[in-house]
Amino acid sequence: MISVIFVCLGNICRSPMAELVFKKMVEERGLANSFDIVSRGTSDEEEGNPVYYPAARVLREHGVDGTHRALQLTKKEVLNADYVLVMDSSNLFDVLRLTGGQCSEKIFKLCSFTPRPRDVADPWYTRDFEKAFSDISEGCSCFLDYIVEKHADMLGYDSRH
Ligand code: 4NP
Repeated sequence: MISVIFVCLGNICRSPMAELVFKKMVEERGLANSFDIVSRGTSDEEEGNPVYYPAARVLREHGVDGTHRALQLTKKEVLNADYVLVMDSSNLFDVLRLTGGQCSEKIFKLCSFTPRPRDVADPWYTRDFEKAFSDISEGCSCFLDYIVEKHADMLGYDSRH
């Protein structure tokens, strides 16, 4: 089992979008049983809240189902995870502060797996939820390709399938 935590600030826009997009991609490749996928926020500000409406709408428009309630990330969760995928440099700083600098080898910016490494622009400020969805989809797709290659033996995955 490969455990993945997607992390943003509030856990109501970017990281739940990434969680639901990645779950769908993993299901479509027949790998759902090999992954434990969750999302969390570095802040407790939005705890208990559902996915922010404009983010939920963009997901729906792209055929991505599912719901989520915001939860704050804990140090224990980071210690137990295989991969912690943050949306931007500010999230990276906050997660490393939470761990006291531990676990840096498994904490990555989601779009660092793409040919054009970058932050996922925060739609809370840009209001461009479509752009955030596009960045997140590309990041998830490139991350999944990386995982499938890196853990090919464990996933029993044959790329000819
Ligand atoms: P998220 O978006 O980190 O992608 O969930 C935000 C949600 C709330 C706030 C900022 C970003 N906020 O400042 O309340």
